[in-house]
Amino acid sequence: MLHYWSGWDWGRLGRVADSSALTKPHSDNFRSVLGRLPTGVVVVTGGEPSAPSGLVVGSFMSVSLEPPLVAVCVARTSTSWPAIELAGHFCANVLAEGQEDLARRFARKGGDKFAGIAWSPAPATGSPLLGDVAAWIDCRIYERYEAGDHWLVLGEVLELSGLREGGALVFHSGSFRPLS
Ligand SMILES: Cc1cc2nc3c(=O)[nH]c(=O)nc-3n(C[C@H](O)[C@H](O)[C@H](O)COP(=O)(O)O)c2cc1C
Repeated sequence: MLHYWSGWDWGRLGRVADSSALTKPHSDNFRSVLGRLPTGVVVVTGGEPSAPSGLVVGSFMSVSLEPPLVAVCVARTSTSWPAIELAGHFCANVLAEGQEDLARRFARKGGDKFAGIAWSPAPATGSPLLGDVAAWIDCRIYERYEAGDHWLVLGEVLELSGLREGGALVFHSGSFRPLS
């Protein structure tokens, strides 16, 4: 009778045990694996016109057509989000290729991220609409859920427009890349 363990490669078992540690969702592994998923680069803006706020997110997605909903995940440590939430609305600015500097500016913490850049009030909510973006989606905050160390925020889309054909900025494996 051949036992199920006969011919077992014990060295392989060791390797399997080691590699299984690499499949656990500790933060380095979580970031590295999820970083392989290419995302768009979106600046979520809002707050009061006299003191606008904004941050870069890669977690922006469409959710529902009726009603028209989008979602974004915001870290609870975000220093920009409280002012955006207080005002009750945001504009999702989809960055175009060539806008890496804008992405880096809004990925910073603190400081006046709007100093010296062009923006205008989005038509429905007045949230900052950045210049030369690939598209913008103007939303009112519809719902906010707790999601671990992030908020999962749904936005109801009030107005939106795609300004540029193609040419979106993409983030993949830790780098900004042009789509084309
Ligand atoms: C490509 C990219 C994607 C990001 N995606 C998110 C995201 O989905 N949610 C989030 O809370 N922060 C995200 N961040 C990090 C924030 O932009 C960063 O923590 C920023 O400093 C937050 O600024 P704040 O503290 O002014 O809100 C991302 C950063 C980069 C570069």
